[in-house]
Amino acid sequence: MSQHGFTLWFTGLSGSGKSTLTDMLYAELKERRGLKVERLDGDEVRKNLSKGLGFSKEDRDTNIRRIGYVCHLLTRNDVIAIAAAISPYRAIRDENRGLIGSDQFIEIYVETPLEVLVQRDVKGLYAKALRGEIKEFTGVSDPYEPPLAPEVHIRSDIETPQQSFAKVIGYLEGRNLISRDGATG
Ligand code: ADX
Repeated sequence: MSQHGFTLWFTGLSGSGKSTLTDMLYAELKERRGLKVERLDGDEVRKNLSKGLGFSKEDRDTNIRRIGYVCHLLTRNDVIAIAAAISPYRAIRDENRGLIGSDQFIEIYVETPLEVLVQRDVKGLYAKALRGEIKEFTGVSDPYEPPLAPEVHIRSDIETPQQSFAKVIGYLEGRNLISRDGATG
C-alpha cells in the first residue's frame, strides 16, 4: 500500500512532553515502520527556519504559519509531518488545519496542569518566568488557548509516555492512516 501524508500537530505548554512523544513517534514511524517522516520541533525551528523570531503574538503567529506551511508541503507529497510547538493561538492552528486539510490534520493536545509544570520545571524557565525574568511566557504571563476538539487528547501528568504513544498510534490505526502491519492506508 502506498503512503499517504498527514500532519501530526502537537500543541501544549512548554515542558508538557511534546518532544518526548514526537521522539517516540518518529522512531516508530520512520525507523521501525520505514515510513517517510519529518519532524518540526519548535526549539529546532527557532534555530533555522524561524531564527530571529521572538515570542510576541506576531512572531509566534509567523513561526506557527511557517511550520504549518512546511507541514502542508510535506503532507501533499505523502510525507508524515510531525510538528511540536506550543502554538498557543487557536486561530492560527485552525488556519493550518485549513491549509493542510481537515482530514490530514491531526491535532494532539498535550495537557499537563501548570502547577505540575512549575514543579518539574525541566528547563528552569518557569521559575524565571514567575520571577519576571522572562516576559510573555506561555501559561504564566502569556495566553494559551487549548484546542476545543483535538483529535487526540493526552494528559501527560497522569499517563506514561508509553500510554500516550499507544493512544496516538491507536488513533492513526483506527483512522487507517497507518495500518496495523506497518504500512500507511
Ligand atoms: S511558539 O509559541 O512559537 O509555538 P515554540 O514552541 O516555537 O513557541 O517555542 C517554545 C520554546 O521556547 C519553549 O519550550 C521554551 O524552551 C522557549 N521559550 C523561550 N521564551 C519563551 C516564552 N516567552 N514563552 C514560551 N516559551 C519560551
